[in-house]
Amino acid sequence: MEILTTLRQIREKIPPKGSRPRPVSLVPTMGALHAGHQSLVERAVREDGQVIATVFVNPLQFGPKEDFNRYPSTREEDIALLEKAGAEWVYFPDPSELLPGPIHFRITHPVAELYCGAFRPGHFSGVLTIVSKFFHLINPDRAYFGMKDRQQLFLISRLARELSFPVEIRPVETVREPDGLAMSSRNRYLSPEDRKHAPELYRMLLQARDRYAPRSHADRLDLPSRIEAQMKERGFRPEYVSFVHPETFLPLSSDDPPGAATILLTAAWLGQTRLIDNIDIPGTHV
Ligand code: PAF
Repeated sequence: MEILTTLRQIREKIPPKGSRPRPVSLVPTMGALHAGHQSLVERAVREDGQVIATVFVNPLQFGPKEDFNRYPSTREEDIALLEKAGAEWVYFPDPSELLPGPIHFRITHPVAELYCGAFRPGHFSGVLTIVSKFFHLINPDRAYFGMKDRQQLFLISRLARELSFPVEIRPVETVREPDGLAMSSRNRYLSPEDRKHAPELYRMLLQARDRYAPRSHADRLDLPSRIEAQMKERGFRPEYVSFVHPETFLPLSSDDPPGAATILLTAAWLGQTRLIDNIDIPGTHV
């Protein structure tokens, strides 16, 4: 695996479209890699890609009070994981070359303001801006994103489609710890006590999925607040619990039938750690 740090190396090493022996497959990350990232790279390799992973803690997507300055960094372990997973190149951008000055252009979308975006103003526009730069600079054939960051995945799919980036976005299932906790670089912030408790979040989503057979709109509209109350009883501080339309990512509305297929999306704090998770709920109406 080759380690690249400059844009010149990117231009020299990544073959241009038209002369690629295999599809160039991008796996963008912020480092502190875990088995979830590994599964993105392995999947891209299995699908015949020549993988370029990027490792860059993107300042544009952090709010002023967020964890940019303490975001975990595990460079040597990241290199070993990417190599083992079969990546061809890893790009550690030099921040002063990738972001030479302030960026005033921002890419955004109405869905970027909802759910996580309502609690992290500017976050998704920072993600979309940096991902657009990677798409321009690397010009990948495919890009892989995890389904744990479901809203991010939706927005990046729309970015590629609406702005005609010639890249195919491939979603990859969330990788979970044996007890169900979705893998995340931020799980290392959990205290040992909170770590034991954290899988409750996913268990509540599973329960909600199994009980999701609302008979009426009122019944369904009531569900998020019932789940939030349950979360609070169990020591979480929920930011939101939302039923989302799988196609538009807008909140389910009264135009949707009561048992319409949906994605249940949540973010909640446990101690000092913000956890996000989601689950697909198949339609129950006939
Ligand atoms: O999902 C992430 O780790 C980041 O949001 C991404 C896509 C690498 C952009 O910085």
